[in-house]
Amino acid sequence: MEYVTQILEVLALAFVLVLGVVAATVALFYVIDRNQPGDAIRRNYPVVGRFRGLFTKMGEFFRQYFFAMDREEMPFNRAQRDWVAHATKGEGNTIAFGSTRNLSVPGTPIFVPAVFPPLEGQYATTEPLEIGPTAARPYRATSIFNISGMSYGAISRPAVEALSRGAAEAGIWMNTGEGGLSPYHLSGGCDIVYQIGTAKYGVRDAEGNLSDDKLREVSAHPGVRMFELKLAQGAKPGKGGILPGAKVGAEIARIRGIPEGQDSISPNRHAEIDDFGDLLDVIGHIREVTGCPVGFKTVIGSSEAWEPLFEMVAERGADSAPDFITIDGGEGGTGAAPMPLMDLVGIPLRDALPRIVDLRDRYGLKDRIRVVASGKLMVPGDVAWALCAGADFVTTARGFMFSLGCIQALKCNRNTCPTGITTHDPYLQRGLVVEDKYVKVANYARSIVREVETIAHSVGVAEPRLMRRRHVRLVQANGTSIRFNEIRPSYSPDAPL
Ligand SMILES: Cc1cc2nc3c(=O)[nH]c(=O)nc-3n(C[C@H](O)[C@H](O)[C@H](O)COP(=O)(O)O)c2cc1C
Repeated sequence: MEYVTQILEVLALAFVLVLGVVAATVALFYVIDRNQPGDAIRRNYPVVGRFRGLFTKMGEFFRQYFFAMDREEMPFNRAQRDWVAHATKGEGNTIAFGSTRNLSVPGTPIFVPAVFPPLEGQYATTEPLEIGPTAARPYRATSIFNISGMSYGAISRPAVEALSRGAAEAGIWMNTGEGGLSPYHLSGGCDIVYQIGTAKYGVRDAEGNLSDDKLREVSAHPGVRMFELKLAQGAKPGKGGILPGAKVGAEIARIRGIPEGQDSISPNRHAEIDDFGDLLDVIGHIREVTGCPVGFKTVIGSSEAWEPLFEMVAERGADSAPDFITIDGGEGGTGAAPMPLMDLVGIPLRDALPRIVDLRDRYGLKDRIRVVASGKLMVPGDVAWALCAGADFVTTARGFMFSLGCIQALKCNRNTCPTGITTHDPYLQRGLVVEDKYVKVANYARSIVREVETIAHSVGVAEPRLMRRRHVRLVQANGTSIRFNEIRPSYSPDAPL
């Protein structure tokens, strides 16, 4: 009995002590908050005002679980993320009861079902498409759906490895992004598109100029199939790549040829490319040196600004043309970019893609210049829309991040990505198990292709590349819909109205 009383006394004392500490802490916070100059809420509502910051931070995490509806979040909603998550399992991806999508939002694409869709025996397989017929080593790309540029640096070693192995497994290409070629890109044995950013990481000489020797070295890897000159990307038009110093470790610094621990900032454009003439010259030069097809990536603001490029190709001859053009929508993602550029500069892909396709087709270059589209094309309907609009290939970065387990924590710029995808912290990278994730990457790519094929069959054609603008209607503000080809007639001879 005495023993119990002693314990109760100790507990009571501890309780009083804890209360004392709490009261003292509250008093201290009260004095600090009341007198600090920076935060008006804490100054006027000492102590309780602190919860605002805490809840705002926690809201970032909990909104997606408890409060946001299936189709509400940005940049990607739960329905889209869940679709990818299911697709990575390689199982059937059916849903029950009915669509949660609001089909009356203006601009929503609705595919036009055929009255008599093809039967199973009438399906065709999508044939590989050649890129760069005039290059010494043209590239026969097998898949319509591929991995968009994400640099080693912006994403982690295991992420690059899992993408490389997954890409090889699914027979798709992987774009290196602007951070150069690492051993991890090569580890899976997939086809690689080497991106040359404005800082020319991995292919520059001591002065930062394009080095022919380095270009030859890179193109000697049999996996490297094409070169992409990055003029701009959707998330930050007019601004070069940004890799925060926290993510520039020794290896990344070595691969890029820059100092360790310092922000890696690329120039806003290629210093030696002042106009379209220079652009075609540089493209021709890289094609000559490497033997590979060469194209460029950009985001656009109008068609008029690009018309002179096609005029110049017409003057110089089709051989001078870029082998492909990657059009990134203004809604594109990135590891790090200023918010005004991300939000406001560069037109969305829905507007940009038909403009560039029409320009190309108007100048009779449909078979010469392939168009690659990117910008939130990560579920089958959006990929199918892009093919209808005239894209030859579709790529996604964030779709493949989701396949690696991304939870949209929006921390790509901080080295604290909780899923190990965009961090170089070994503890966090431990969460990303390459053996598991590469299978998911491959399953995701295959599922997209399979379901885009399903849409193609539903609209009455034998394979995805036969889809045309007439196969899509766009919902109007008054609730009716108009065929896409009425809004934007196609120039292609094989796409009658
Ligand atoms: C983490 C991350 C890193 C990226 N790095 C690059 C890059 O190095 N070069 C580039 O051209 N685009 C880069 N991008 C942009 C993507 O390649 C792509 O153009 C854009 O995100 C649009 O595609 P998405 O909406 O499917 O992600 C990056 C995007 C992300 C999310």
